[in-house]
Amino acid sequence: MDPRNPGRNTINLIKSVLFLLCLIPVARLGWAFQQDALGANPVEAITRGTGDWTLRFLLISLAVTPLRQLSGWNWLLRTRRMLGLYAFFYACLHFMTYLWLDRFFDWSSMARDILRRPFITVGFAAFVLLIPLAATSFNRAIRWLGGRRWQSLHRSVYPIGILSIVHYWWLVKRDISEPLMYGLILCILLGFRFWQRDQERKRQIAAGEPKARIKARRVIPIVPE
Ligand code: HEM
Repeated sequence: MDPRNPGRNTINLIKSVLFLLCLIPVARLGWAFQQDALGANPVEAITRGTGDWTLRFLLISLAVTPLRQLSGWNWLLRTRRMLGLYAFFYACLHFMTYLWLDRFFDWSSMARDILRRPFITVGFAAFVLLIPLAATSFNRAIRWLGGRRWQSLHRSVYPIGILSIVHYWWLVKRDISEPLMYGLILCILLGFRFWQRDQERKRQIAAGEPKARIKARRVIPIVPE
């Protein structure tokens, strides 16, 4: 099999396996909860576990495009939507754990938390910004918005990534090694995007393309699933 160009059935198989793999973190948390194996503070363990996986899936989905470009495996793009939706899924679990098990659906207490605790403010902002991305991740929404508008909207995944790192950074009290590591990964991914865009612009200028066309070309075609 050519890893650059697997057949339709192989891609479907990869996507099915990936779908199941992405469920492992929630299954493990559920199992540990059921077995009473989440330690002295199960709510904190679930909040932290789901928060960690939200951030990981965000970064993994952001890594898809650079990996595709470096490897030439174009089919990787077909996993990006699923990975992004998993980031949203874990964000919903994370938020629901906070709202339900931590705040007992006390909306005014949550509102106070959002206003008074900066790490909650930025986490909430990241979550709210994720909602339109999840809502417009389907083919009909892409068609309805049009490629350019869809892409501009989905660029907010970068500020979401930054807000998520700030959220994590501000909540840790002493050891910042983990948020620092995730922050570095995000910087590499963002740096790659900027470098690649700059290269492309230079290449087009060198080829003597008119400015208007260079701007228009920035819209990368959206790959249907
Ligand atoms: C995209 C959105 C979000 C991401 C990526 C995210 C990520 C994280 C991460 C990585 C952690 C730390 C896990 C650890 O310590 O190992 C965390 C903890 C936490 N997050 Fe979020 N979060 C998000 C949104 C939210 C929202 C909307 C809320 C509530 C309104 C929230 C409330 C919390 C709380 C209460 C903790 C645990 C603090 C503690 O007890 O140590 N997060 N989150």
